[in-house]
Amino acid sequence: MSTPWTPDSWRSKPIEQVPTYPDADALAAVESELKGYPPLVFAGEARVLKSQLKDVCEGRAFLLQGGDCAESFAEFHPNKIRDTFRVLLQMAVVLTYAASCPVVKVGRMAGQFAKPRSAPTETQGDITLDSYRGDIINGIDFTESERIPDPTRMLKAYSQAAATLNLLRAFAQGGYANLQSVHRWNLDFVTDNEAGTRFHELADRIGDALDFMAACGVQADNVQALQGTAFYTSHESLLLGYEQALTRVDSTSGDWYDTSAHLLWVGDRTRNLDSAHVEFLRGVANPVASKVGPTTDPDRLLRLCDILNPENEPGRLTLITRFGADQVEKHLPTLIRAIEREGKKVVWSCDPMHGNTVKTSVGVKTRPFERIMDEVRQTFSVHKAEGTYAGGIHLELTGQNVTECTGGVAAITEDGLTSRYHTHCDPRLNASQALELSFLLAEFLKAERQLQTKQAAE
Ligand code: PEP
Ligand code: CO
Repeated sequence: MSTPWTPDSWRSKPIEQVPTYPDADALAAVESELKGYPPLVFAGEARVLKSQLKDVCEGRAFLLQGGDCAESFAEFHPNKIRDTFRVLLQMAVVLTYAASCPVVKVGRMAGQFAKPRSAPTETQGDITLDSYRGDIINGIDFTESERIPDPTRMLKAYSQAAATLNLLRAFAQGGYANLQSVHRWNLDFVTDNEAGTRFHELADRIGDALDFMAACGVQADNVQALQGTAFYTSHESLLLGYEQALTRVDSTSGDWYDTSAHLLWVGDRTRNLDSAHVEFLRGVANPVASKVGPTTDPDRLLRLCDILNPENEPGRLTLITRFGADQVEKHLPTLIRAIEREGKKVVWSCDPMHGNTVKTSVGVKTRPFERIMDEVRQTFSVHKAEGTYAGGIHLELTGQNVTECTGGVAAITEDGLTSRYHTHCDPRLNASQALELSFLLAEFLKAERQLQTKQAAE
């Protein structure tokens, strides 16, 4: 029997990755103010997302989740939101069209502010300060005052999340995401390379298909699905005081929902079975996810499924595997077999970013594009061999023309990394690299679809 859950029951559990706020009263005052703020998302939307993830779980759709490693206050700009939204939509179009597969779109956006760190402090020269933990907690500049956790940052994060979500909703439903506009989505710097050209060709084919449908009487003014798209938000549920303050009872169902985002996940460093972070997530009715890294033990993973998804509801729980390209073969088959043996219903998603971070000879953090592609390839091939469905991808990307991951069609070299290296945390794919990856994914997905069709016919 598990103990009763309350929005604050996490407070009596062991917790890691928490900031030490110098003024407990100031923290309590901010949390209490946040409790009175409007929810950012509605429970009904989170339920729809869960039902779409059920389709993913059962092999009928694909989950595309992506965005910044860490959103930042300084980089907050409508064009950045638009460009990330646009590259996610472009990827979704590639997957939907090339693989005839509905795509569930989820941004790491509108709330992805708090970061787990491998070390609590950072030393430069002979000065040691608290590590940067994301703009919702402290500042990135290496000064004593910036690195002190400041609770009022939560209010700023909330308002930035609200404004971001408002724009995303407008883009998704207000005409921008109309499929007829697909040609106009292209980003200048993507048009003149191979991924951009392939996208243009595909957009032309979609344009022809839409013209044909319009001639048959099917068009955006009479078919809602052509007018816009559903777009959801997600972030790591790390700063639990903030998450708790936005957790509300849904009057329709009587269930608790964390209204800070549609989907919340627990990170690889905080997914211990008795951790505060797992305790918090088990009680909210949103769809939830857990990162699954190389230290995951199969029995503990099964227990985690019991805790986070006791009813074994398809769509409730996504497992985001992130081993590193050279570790997939070693870990993934064992975990899949344990989950299959116990009949656990999960969405399997692949994060090819976090296991493939390396440092260049001059100490710059990067992720070689080839290794990212390789983790994706291997993950799909293991799922194929095990007879399970590789249902999603989880990426750190931006619509900006950054140079943070080496390789790809733009052939970014280690020396070239510094020219536009803007991330506040981990290196992200730029728009061309993201598109290139989506063409590879489309091939895998197409092969899976063909296999499903063949099996259904037999
Ligand atoms: C992240 O997604 O930014 C992250 C820190 O991932 P992980 O928990 O898998 O290390
Ligand atoms: Co990251």
